[in-house]
Amino acid sequence: MQRFFRPLAGLFIVLFIGLARWKWEVISITDLYHETTISPETIQHIHNSSHLMVSAFKDHRRGGAIRVISILRRSAFKKLYCVLCVQANARTEWDDGCSQRVSSEAVVEIHSDHFGFPYGTSDILCNSSSSFKPTHVAISMDPITVQNLRYLPIQNQETKDSFKYSFTVCISNLFGEYNNALQFVQTMEVYKLIGIQRVVIYNTSSGPDVEKLLKYYSKEGMLEVVPWSIDKFLKPSHGWQPQESPGDLHYYGQLTTLNECIYRHMYQSQYLLLNDIDEIIMPYKHASLGDLMDTLQTQHHDAGVFIVENPIFPKTQFDERGRFSRREWQNVPGINILEHIYREPDRKGVHKPTKMIINPRSVEQTSVHSVLKHFGPSINVQFDVCHIIHVRVPLQGSLHKNQLHVDKKLWEFEKRLIPNINLALNESGLLM
Ligand SMILES: *[C@@H]1O[C@H](CO)[C@@H](O)[C@H](O)[C@H]1NC(C)=O
Ligand SMILES: *[C@@H]1O[C@H](CO)[C@@H](O)[C@H](O)[C@H]1NC(C)=O
Ligand SMILES: *[C@@H]1O[C@H](CO)[C@@H](O)[C@H](O)[C@H]1NC(C)=O
Ligand SMILES: *[C@@H]1O[C@H](CO)[C@@H](O)[C@H](O)[C@H]1NC(C)=O
Repeated sequence: MQRFFRPLAGLFIVLFIGLARWKWEVISITDLYHETTISPETIQHIHNSSHLMVSAFKDHRRGGAIRVISILRRSAFKKLYCVLCVQANARTEWDDGCSQRVSSEAVVEIHSDHFGFPYGTSDILCNSSSSFKPTHVAISMDPITVQNLRYLPIQNQETKDSFKYSFTVCISNLFGEYNNALQFVQTMEVYKLIGIQRVVIYNTSSGPDVEKLLKYYSKEGMLEVVPWSIDKFLKPSHGWQPQESPGDLHYYGQLTTLNECIYRHMYQSQYLLLNDIDEIIMPYKHASLGDLMDTLQTQHHDAGVFIVENPIFPKTQFDERGRFSRREWQNVPGINILEHIYREPDRKGVHKPTKMIINPRSVEQTSVHSVLKHFGPSINVQFDVCHIIHVRVPLQGSLHKNQLHVDKKLWEFEKRLIPNINLALNESGLLM
């Protein structure tokens, strides 16, 4: 039936576009076409505003309130309104398909970590009576407009207490034609060996070799790539300080993607690891993350946040014997993390960087190094039990080799790791 009407509808739309004087109307029609074809944009404008919205989730911990993850322009922020809809019929170009619609004023929480940028990660909360079961939500700038709004499906409608994955890594952003392919493939293969089943990457842009690996791992099943074209909507900053790296939003929207990842995987994964693409949260006393978390959870029953220290392994210091400088990797661009076995020491009086393992059901809002709002205790994991292997440019570049710690943890995986890396490289077309 729909296929029949498509060409006709197309004709009407062309006529309508010709007539329409309002840019916003045109945009919402092209969006409708996106919705019915390929993967939907992860980001969209809140109708008739400069604010952005990403996705919507029912929050069972907040009395079933609907939470819309969004990016609000802080200065332009006024009141917002929720339109909750029970979508009974398929949405068409002219009808939003709602059999019931309820609108109310939203409660807006702009996260405290906006670092002074004009836009900030926010939650738009819409409450809902327990008898009303909305399937979709739209945000309106005023209490009257209910037409032509963009609806988001409400996810996490039901709670679960068994999960598809035990450990999922949320990698917040890939941007700037990132092409560190060797470090990426090595990291993915180490993840597998320590018990990670799923990796989620928010993709703004990637270089040609990393792109091949993204495709390989998506097809193979471990990786979920979420489109994150934030640069089409805003001028994202490359850093975290507006004075040094000007822009509309902190670090390509890293805080938004981390929060989105928590809600997206709340009932899919027992734990989430919130770290960057060049970081490995490594258990040093247990054979796997599963064993590590069993121990930690026995010691701290109701904890849902585990803070892990993040020392630097400088990419400028090499293993002198060149044990893992392998010929077949010479043409693969990127860092060979197996060669960088020197770790920087702590500095007195300098705050130690950290990342986290969380139970997503314990967290309401997160930042990068700690959580902002959570239920239950947050635990600092002992350095010798677990810390991060983070190969990158040094922070203490003046230190000599003998002032650094030797840490060959990764070498323990050699036997299984090397063939797995080569298989992935070969299958991706990167092995010469
Ligand atoms: C929103 O709508 C009002 C009235 O419909 C219009 O005057 C205004 O320019 C619109 N704002 C934006 C940002 O499109
Ligand atoms: C919705 O929120 C309003 C204001 O915050 C409150 O008065 C009302 O009781 C809430 N309704 C439900 C169903 O939670
Ligand atoms: C990542 O994003 C870029 C830019 O939108 C796109 O060209 C590329 O195909 C994306 N990669 C994957 C694997 O989705
Ligand atoms: C790479 O893959 C091809 C075809 O799948 C295979 O013939 C070849 O032996 C592989 N090479 C290595 C080094 O694994």
